[in-house]
Amino acid sequence: MNDSTAHALPTGLDEILELTRADREAVDRLIVDRLSSDVVLVNQISSHIISGGGKRMRPLVHLLCARAAGYAGDDHVKLAAIIEFIHTSTLLHDDVVDESSRRRGQVTAHRLWGNAASVLVGDFLYSRSFQLMVELDRMAIMNILADTTNTIAEGEVLQLMQMGNPDLSVDEYFQVISDKTACLFAASARLGGLLGGLDESGCDRLAEFGLYLGQAFQITDDVLDYRDAGDDIGKNAGDDLAEGKVTLPLILALEHGDDSERELIRGIIESGGSERLDEVRAILDRTDALDEAMAQARGLAARADEALKALPDSPERRALAWLAAYAVERRL
Ligand code: IPE
Ligand code: IPE
Ligand code: MG
Ligand code: MG
Repeated sequence: MNDSTAHALPTGLDEILELTRADREAVDRLIVDRLSSDVVLVNQISSHIISGGGKRMRPLVHLLCARAAGYAGDDHVKLAAIIEFIHTSTLLHDDVVDESSRRRGQVTAHRLWGNAASVLVGDFLYSRSFQLMVELDRMAIMNILADTTNTIAEGEVLQLMQMGNPDLSVDEYFQVISDKTACLFAASARLGGLLGGLDESGCDRLAEFGLYLGQAFQITDDVLDYRDAGDDIGKNAGDDLAEGKVTLPLILALEHGDDSERELIRGIIESGGSERLDEVRAILDRTDALDEAMAQARGLAARADEALKALPDSPERRALAWLAAYAVERRL
């Protein structure tokens, strides 16, 4: 999480920022240092998206897991930068696919420079992350990250195939969010355990923490996309409905709505478009779909918290527990 977004976050964050200050500053320096390229457009686009800040949740999870597992070296700094590069590259690609016009409080890169440039600079960031990975020279790390990036890509394609499908099941939804989002959180946590020398079951427990945290995080994101709480979430609300993307709130509204509500939502999912967002919001409200989705997200955050018990108590473990709660209470 970088300091520029700190104002929007709940109390408790100050301590975490202090606890991780030196590590986070080292990660920031490495990110800026390794972003550079001789190609002007690569620098422009990558600086644009990185300068938007972002919460830096995944690097923070990694740094804290490594320290909580007792790691005393500095490879976690490089891994945190690698993880943020991977995440950022998926955002560049995702905004093209989703045709989103805002990200991190700014106009999206593809709106400024076009789809082709955005996709290619996304590829640059991806491959830069693999260059950094090779420097670490550990097959176990490359294995985890190769599998993770492959799964993220599968998740995004799976979601694309389900676009406009009002019959998407809860299980299929969970498959998509686990692959496209939660698996990177899981890898961030697992890699922390690996650096700290945890045994396999300890690493598995940390991966479980990341997976539940990531699922809770994505469900919250899907709720924020509908909930108009008057906060600026740094992106456009209503993007999911506009493109016919079915998320947990809609699945629950379809489950609890009456026949006419169901028919209306099914039609909008099939056609896409944002003109009828207010009508859908009213149905989500009446069926308590957003509150129910958040209840599920909180349940997952509690399971994430439970998985942390594999680690001995420490300020870092407490910070990770705080992050699990933050993933569902956030407004940004
Ligand atoms: C956005 O992730 C993509 C999702 C998985 C919802 P973040 O909300 O972590 O994005 P930044 O990095 O803070 O901008
Ligand atoms: C993003 O999912 C997942 C990845 C970037 C892989 P979303 O499409 O829901 O994220 P936002 O809402 O655009 O940030
Ligand atoms: Mg998107
Ligand atoms: Mg979203």
